[in-house]
Amino acid sequence: MSPLTARNPNESEEARTSAAAAAGAGALFTEIDHVAVAVRDLGAAIDYYRDTFGALVEHREELDGDGVEEALLAVAESYIQLVTPTRDDSVVARFLERRGEGLHHVAYRVDDCAAALQAVKDQGGRVLDEVPRAGSRGTTVAFVHPAGAFGTLIELVQE
Ligand code: CO
Repeated sequence: MSPLTARNPNESEEARTSAAAAAGAGALFTEIDHVAVAVRDLGAAIDYYRDTFGALVEHREELDGDGVEEALLAVAESYIQLVTPTRDDSVVARFLERRGEGLHHVAYRVDDCAAALQAVKDQGGRVLDEVPRAGSRGTTVAFVHPAGAFGTLIELVQE
């Protein structure tokens, strides 16, 4: 477009709206799948959530590829994911070293992980997984880099 062409003052808003609609923004997340908390002592954390909040373990799994062991505590249709490293070189081990225990990532359920990941890339977002991969309990997952996501590590989960 020529810089001299008269612009519709609403054009950019319309462009944003249609881009969001095309990307399905707002419709990609169907549920919060889990909130992940990095802990040093998985057993102690499980006891704390049970004794304090009555939250019970629904699933436990060791993920060799990520070097972590997790416990999923049911909260309605979502989970608290308590995660602890099983190796010194795991991402969660480095996180604990740098930042200590605490909130690690938020996972959102999506219908189609590959499509959601592509939507992130189409918006110029940085991703940690170029393609979806296997998560725990048979899910398909992909992580979005916190840089470009307002400081939160985001996991996309397809059941
Ligand atoms: Co997770």
